[in-house]
Amino acid sequence: MSFKPAPWPRKLRSQHWYGGNTRDTIYHRGWMKNQGYPPDLFDGRPIIGILNTWSELTPCNGHLRELAEKVKAGVWEAGGFPVEVPVFSASENTFRPTAMMFRNLAALAIEETMRAQPIDGAVLMVGCDKTTPSLLMAAASTNIPSIVISGGPMLNGWFRGERVGSGTHLWKFSEEVRAGKLRQDEFLEAEQAMSRSSGSCNTMGTASTMASMAETLGMALSGNAAIPAVDSRRRVMAQMTGRRIVQMVKDDLKPSDILTRQAFENAIRTNGAIGGSTNAVVHLLALAGRVEVDLTLDDWDRGGRDVATIVNLMPSGKYLMEEFFYAGGLPVVLKRLGEGGLLHKDALTVSGRSIWDEVKDVINHNPDVILPLEKALTSQGGIAVLKGNLAPKGAVLKPSAASPELMCHRGRAVVFEDIDDYKARINDESLDIDEHCVMVLKNCGPKGYPGMAEVGNMGLPPKVLRKGITDMVRISDARMSGTAYGTVVLHVSPEAAAGGPLAVVREGDMIELDVPNRRLHLDISDEEMTTRLAQWKPSHVQSVSGYAWMHQQHVEGADQGADLDFLKGCRGNPVPKESH
Ligand code: FES
Repeated sequence: MSFKPAPWPRKLRSQHWYGGNTRDTIYHRGWMKNQGYPPDLFDGRPIIGILNTWSELTPCNGHLRELAEKVKAGVWEAGGFPVEVPVFSASENTFRPTAMMFRNLAALAIEETMRAQPIDGAVLMVGCDKTTPSLLMAAASTNIPSIVISGGPMLNGWFRGERVGSGTHLWKFSEEVRAGKLRQDEFLEAEQAMSRSSGSCNTMGTASTMASMAETLGMALSGNAAIPAVDSRRRVMAQMTGRRIVQMVKDDLKPSDILTRQAFENAIRTNGAIGGSTNAVVHLLALAGRVEVDLTLDDWDRGGRDVATIVNLMPSGKYLMEEFFYAGGLPVVLKRLGEGGLLHKDALTVSGRSIWDEVKDVINHNPDVILPLEKALTSQGGIAVLKGNLAPKGAVLKPSAASPELMCHRGRAVVFEDIDDYKARINDESLDIDEHCVMVLKNCGPKGYPGMAEVGNMGLPPKVLRKGITDMVRISDARMSGTAYGTVVLHVSPEAAAGGPLAVVREGDMIELDVPNRRLHLDISDEEMTTRLAQWKPSHVQSVSGYAWMHQQHVEGADQGADLDFLKGCRGNPVPKESH
């Protein structure tokens, strides 16, 4: 931790718009005054952009408009000038073909929004899955002092006396309906029980994972990740966040000071300890690319290999985010990592203090939620990175969500050429498949879908479900919802649409999955592989215009974070030229 605060007072970037009395300054300032701001607000104090992903079509962030008022209160208290700015909000549950296709577009739009305007510091108001990485990527590429406030998770879902987890139970109940174990009307009754309050998914899905990643990276105040959306302490956190960003601007504490290699290594280990989403892999690789930290899939495998999953939350365990918060939340996990020598203790956080200083005195209030090491859900949490002739650049699997008996498996491939092919045939009773087969899905990667949809956890065929089987090995270039589970190999790279070996898997081929040895192998000869690849022709939909075209032309592989190639790196925050 070698950060030295900048001297204060000094001229901030917003003064290039508002400082002095030239015609241009009066133009910028005068129009702002139509909102009733007194003249002294333009005197050089930090102007804080509250970048809000509130949207009624991003229901997980539907309460952020109200929460922003608390952030503003904190900014005012600390002597800043808060301005709330609506930004691109990529909702997981409404955006099609998949919110992931828009993560980079959102990051691009928000980066330019930050740079083009008189913003000295930013509060990143996030919640739903893609909103967290897109705003972090924008902040990293502008390197304007920034701090995350998450919207917080929903309260526990309850249905007939049992906890119901967002997403996790959607997949579970849906399979039960297909297996004839749950009636459709019961499924509909459960629908309302899943979402009892404002907030993001209440499981350790992607939203909770990314909130935990933001906190571990040091980009949010300690304790931010788990406070439920409707708990009064979420509003306190918002106000404290507003206060803090003003001092960060004065100190010139920037994302590049915080997002170091050490911070990413801390995040990778934390992801293992919390049983976090596989989506964190693509998001953190992309974020690292923005701050020019050389992070790879191998770092994920190495970093997570010896980390036990100790957070007993769905989809890997049994509790939900509400209980995680009551148990002490992420700070308890970070303390445990630190005690085990698995945390870079002096990594800097937005508070200006080290991560260890933030967590060293916390207490675990519920050892059934945050487990002792001897009761860990799995001793090797983390993300297993598999390689082999089927995934030369890697594929990922989440061991804590997989079936131990399938971790070494050899089976006959049942191949679906794309998601439409899967949907058309999976319920066909004549489909030649049993529980020993390996389901293979192609053309669902970053280019292929396009956008890399969360369809990797393909539902099993009804005739297998009726036998009481709930898991099979599934392989694809898709992603999987962080709320999902199963022995699911994801992010196979290169993807099928880019001509990777996945594209040439044929019905009846034998596939070997060997997680302990990190191997994914298509059992054909090298010569046969070469011949098939030479004959391959793309079959995915290729966009000819618009953003979908740009995405397909420029998106990188999942092994690199699926960012757009021309958005990598930090472009800083030079003040743009005056326009009049
Ligand atoms: Fe928005 Fe899960 S769908 S957080």
